[in-house]
Amino acid sequence: MVIKPWQGRFEKSAHREVEKYTESLSFDRVLYKYDILGSIAHCKMLAECGIISHEEASEIVGALGEIQREIERGEFVFDPAFEDIHMAIEHRLIQKIGDVGGKLHTARSRNDQVCLDLRLYLRDVILSIREHILEVIRILTDLAEKHVEDVLPGYTHLQHAQPVSLGHHLMAYCEMFARDDERFRDCFTRVNVLPLGSAALAGTTFPIDMEWTARYLGFDRVTRNSMDAVSDRDFAVEFLGCSAITAMHLSRLAEELVLWSSSEFGFLEMSDAFCTGSSIMPQKKNPDVAELMRGKAGRIYGNLVTLLTVLKGLPLTYNRDLQEDKEPVFDTASTIINSLRILTMLLPEISFRTDRMAKVLEDGWLLATELADYLVCKGVPFRKAHHTVGQIVKYAIESGKKLTGLSVEELRKFHKSFEEDVKEVMDVKAAVSRRTSIGGTAFSRVREAIEEVRRELTIRKEDLIGLRSKIPSEWGEVVNE
Ligand code: ARG
Repeated sequence: MVIKPWQGRFEKSAHREVEKYTESLSFDRVLYKYDILGSIAHCKMLAECGIISHEEASEIVGALGEIQREIERGEFVFDPAFEDIHMAIEHRLIQKIGDVGGKLHTARSRNDQVCLDLRLYLRDVILSIREHILEVIRILTDLAEKHVEDVLPGYTHLQHAQPVSLGHHLMAYCEMFARDDERFRDCFTRVNVLPLGSAALAGTTFPIDMEWTARYLGFDRVTRNSMDAVSDRDFAVEFLGCSAITAMHLSRLAEELVLWSSSEFGFLEMSDAFCTGSSIMPQKKNPDVAELMRGKAGRIYGNLVTLLTVLKGLPLTYNRDLQEDKEPVFDTASTIINSLRILTMLLPEISFRTDRMAKVLEDGWLLATELADYLVCKGVPFRKAHHTVGQIVKYAIESGKKLTGLSVEELRKFHKSFEEDVKEVMDVKAAVSRRTSIGGTAFSRVREAIEEVRRELTIRKEDLIGLRSKIPSEWGEVVNE
């Protein structure tokens, strides 16, 4: 039987069911390397400040290294009786080096320790999400460049609206993902704060040096209020919020992949490697990957609401409810990373059916705005022009003709300003090229946008490398310094 650290005050040991109900080791074990890294930093700081000796510190650090290797080799026994990853590791430490191991927990509590672990974990997760987002942006810009001059119907209300460049359509997603990247970057600054030293809730009587630990672990700042530090999880809420927005963007993109691969649209073909067949209907090729990407937004939104709900109404400071923060965070982290990763594999395997897009444009009514704009250029007020073209559309429908099939004489029946040059504006490519306003779909604008996004991408990548270089990632680097 495991002797709990608090056994001194207790007469009975915990009920078996209580142990099962309260343990978090089954899921917080993913934090092991952050827990060990945090403990190493803490232990070295204790020695720097003369709270423990340097010999004791190196004994503890050495043993923590061995524990990390035991875990990674699968030799470590994760006994739920230890409740959580912090106690499991500390117990093993004391088992290995005896009483000296018991000195590690001086001037800290699991309350600041768990918060530190989560922040260390989230730093890594955020950087890896950003890396994947940047890769998605890179692939999308390459695709966009390939398809700048391919035109497809642009939609509003899922009805044909105006012709647009396929490159422009793809670059719209780059804008979304670029903002996602910025949100995660911003979230990182609030995650990257050291809470260790806040101890249980009120700080500690020991002469610790939080700034030292912060520098060692690559944190930008230390928390200013110990009570806030042990009970704050809004950095995690923020992470879940950023993730929810990214999941929403992924879901919208996925929906277009599903829609566009349908027989009705037929705008793209997805590689067989990213589809599945039906067990009963031999003709089927289902876009399951895209569907799941769309569907996974559900659990990611759910995780955000879960944590917000756990936090609401909690009195200061630490409450055990806070243990419920981990599963939503872990689930969101792995779901978002997996979705982004699979997207980077799927996107290059898409072939766009630009012939189908062109075909659909031919029978569409997407040039109606061009007719109205033509009249405006001849001095007709826009509202009047809009009304006139509405009548022309009605006439064309009734006489079974396409807009482009109407003669100048027919058009002149509706407005005398129509002349021979109207033919020039009734062309999809011309319609796209003329939309040269900032952010418009004109081919020249799309090319400019691609260049700008690429320039930004280089800066974003440098920023990411900069952040990575400031934080210790591998345990090996930390101990062998
Ligand atoms: N497993 C706990 C959690 O995840 C660690 C902190 C426990 N602190 C305590 N005072 N019981 O929140």
